[in-house]
Amino acid sequence: MDREILIREMTVEDVDAVAAMERENFTAPWKKEDFADIIDKVDRGCVVAQKAGEIIGCVVYHNIVGDVDITNVQVKEGFRGQGIATGLMEAAMEKARAIGGTSFTLEVRESNLAAKTLYGSLGFVQEGIRRGFYEDPREDAVIMWLR
Ligand SMILES: CC(C)(COP(=O)(O)OP(=O)(O)OC[C@H]1O[C@@H](n2cnc3c(N)ncnc32)[C@H](O)[C@@H]1OP(=O)(O)O)[C@@H](O)C(=O)NCCC(=O)NCCS
Repeated sequence: MDREILIREMTVEDVDAVAAMERENFTAPWKKEDFADIIDKVDRGCVVAQKAGEIIGCVVYHNIVGDVDITNVQVKEGFRGQGIATGLMEAAMEKARAIGGTSFTLEVRESNLAAKTLYGSLGFVQEGIRRGFYEDPREDAVIMWLR
């Protein structure tokens, strides 16, 4: 990964930029408040990637008594394919382990080959399908775990 890319914890100053990136990447985006809410929680966190002052990616995690739900993963278009999501996932998983996380889970759209390949390369395996989980467009969710 580019040495000019900094991976760090999200701060309150980043929330506007993270929410704007979220609106570009998802049809049912989280709101600004959803990201702001994470900041003071002991069981949750958001790591961001920054380059030349610009927020270019993030991963959100939530530790639920050892099972860590990875709830948001994204990299800005134009910065993809450079290992940034991999770096963000590794950083988020390290932080989640430091607060007691031992297993990791996430859900991903069935058609999202880039994301499914990313998670597979990190050791996640498919353990289930949640039929019709996503809307806009309606699609099944693949449930993956890294235990
Ligand atoms: C999925 C996403 C986060 C990947 O980010 P990224 O920074 O490009 O990922 P990386 O560069 O770390 O890629 C890691 C691995 O994932 C796989 N991968 C990434 N993009 C891929 C693509 N378009 N097609 C197939 N495999 C892909 C590759 O195996 C890659 O490893 P390699 O480069 O050594 O082959 C990014 O495409 C994205 O933000 N998409 C839109 C939002 C989204 O779908 N988020 C996930 C929701 S569950």
